[in-house]
Amino acid sequence: METQSERKVVLSAIQPTGTPTLGNYLGALKNWKEMAKDYDCFYAVADLHSITVRPEPAQLRRRTLEMYALLLAIGLDPEKNTVFVQSHVNAHAQLAWVLNCYTQFGEAARMTQFKDKSEKHPENVNVGLFAYPTLMAADILLYQAHYVPIGADQKQHLEITRDIAERFNGLYGETFRLPEPFIGKAGARVMSLQEPTKKMSKSDTNVKAFISVLDDKDTIVRKIKSAVTDSEARVYYAEGKDGVNNLMGIYACCTGKTFDEIEKDFAGKGYGDFKAAVAEAVVEELAPVKETFDRLIADKAYLNDCMAKGAEQAARVANKTLRKVMRKVGFYQL
Ligand code: TYM
Repeated sequence: METQSERKVVLSAIQPTGTPTLGNYLGALKNWKEMAKDYDCFYAVADLHSITVRPEPAQLRRRTLEMYALLLAIGLDPEKNTVFVQSHVNAHAQLAWVLNCYTQFGEAARMTQFKDKSEKHPENVNVGLFAYPTLMAADILLYQAHYVPIGADQKQHLEITRDIAERFNGLYGETFRLPEPFIGKAGARVMSLQEPTKKMSKSDTNVKAFISVLDDKDTIVRKIKSAVTDSEARVYYAEGKDGVNNLMGIYACCTGKTFDEIEKDFAGKGYGDFKAAVAEAVVEELAPVKETFDRLIADKAYLNDCMAKGAEQAARVANKTLRKVMRKVGFYQL
């Protein structure tokens, strides 16, 4: 048995920008829960990141609480894992500033997410959006994380985190651990149910394109029934069968079955049977999350208490790394 201090460290975070989708769940949150059994885990609601789109203040507050409740609802135990809100730990913003000064303009400008988001919202290309990856690097490096469970869309941000950490270590000696991304196979990129060449996203204007983790049974069944497939009516994984491939990925994630097993199970059956099975598997996965969420969200005092403890625990670890960095860079120490 590994003792607490020998256990490998995991960190990840999610923005409180609305109810997570099945994509967030299968790509990231489900792995968070799995990893919580074996690792020393720090999981954050990334509220600082979410202000790059200038949310309504009341909405940001509500969504932060809801996202926190949801993290507990997926099965994270606040007694065993550190579950906290990013803005409650000052070290994140402080280290992000330092890391900004060790990140080149050119490397931040190459980030695909920055380029995509600035193209989509040319009216608000703020410096925060540009510096988003250095804040994410700070989140990870403060905890000396070994692994970072994420979906495939965040891989580039992990790479820049490693580059920044390596550069800093090269200049000042070993300070940060170089983190590894943990990207699951089947759920790494859950696609839109309506346009399966596009990532499933909660900001999609077509609500039929995504499943929210709090959707009820009927909604889930309806959305999967209307998912775009193809005219072949044969369940197998192949290039060009994006809709079916996506449903197979979702089904594989929820049931633990391999693609080969799924192909065998549905040999000779049409998409109607397959979609019904996918819907059932998704409902089974998400029903307990919704049930627990509904109960927890009514208990604000409990959630506040968990948040406060989480922040205190996180700050203890984060401040240790921050102090080391401040000393190495040459900030005057009292
Ligand atoms: P966010 O809030 O956009 O998404 C949270 C997690 O969900 C994954 N994800 C998906 N996975 C599979 N299929 C999809 N369609 C899909 N959509 C989203 C994302 O990859 C992510 O893992 N920058 C991060 C939040 C963050 C963070 C961090 C992550 C802030 N600091 C430190 C890791 C470590 C983000 O915007 O994720």
